[in-house]
Amino acid sequence: MLYDPGIRIEEREDVYSPGDDSILLIESLEIRDGERVLEIGCGSGVVAIHCAKNGADVTAVDINAAAVELTRKNAAANGAYMDVRLSDLYEDIDSHYDTIVFNLPYLPVNDTGTLEKAWSGGDDGIGPLPKLLNEVEGHLFPRGRFVIVTSSLMDQQRLDEVLDGYDVTVIGERKLFFELLKVLEIRL
Ligand SMILES: C[S@@+](CC[C@H](N)C(=O)[O-])C[C@H]1O[C@@H](n2cnc3c(N)ncnc32)[C@H](O)[C@@H]1O
Repeated sequence: MLYDPGIRIEEREDVYSPGDDSILLIESLEIRDGERVLEIGCGSGVVAIHCAKNGADVTAVDINAAAVELTRKNAAANGAYMDVRLSDLYEDIDSHYDTIVFNLPYLPVNDTGTLEKAWSGGDDGIGPLPKLLNEVEGHLFPRGRFVIVTSSLMDQQRLDEVLDGYDVTVIGERKLFFELLKVLEIRL
């Protein structure tokens, strides 16, 4: 499939295929030349490739080995250079970034398979968001940002609690038939 201006993505059934959330994220995410970007949960690689093609120095990780393999393949096919690794959140990351981007698993369901981790955010749909924010020490430059996708299907009260105290800006929004997606830029 063809996404963004000129990004061709090969898909496979054991990796999350780009959806409305991925496209909204790409459309909302402005990248500066030379910016250091960490994408957590790269899936097919579409977001990481968008960042690399816009001049970012990209590291992309996923907890699913098939996604790591597919991102490497799609990056090479699109002439995008990046470091792609298997990692559970920051587990195998030892560097600092300007932007940490994660199109989180956000559906309020408790599916536990490798592919299901792409969308399963647990009972409240909040998934790994608290860990992403709490364990950032040593990975985000002082003026850096997180960019995440949220959904109206998440428990909104719990989401407000998790984001309390952060500087949050909505940088993208899309109403779908059954949910409202938002792209949030979060600063410490
Ligand atoms: C909704 S998909 C997004 C894929 C891709 N970034 C996109 O926008 O199309 C979420 C991805 O996060 C990965 N993931 C889930 N939990 C993770 C974790 N703890 N650490 C790293 N990756 C994770 C999943 O395997 C999946 O590829």
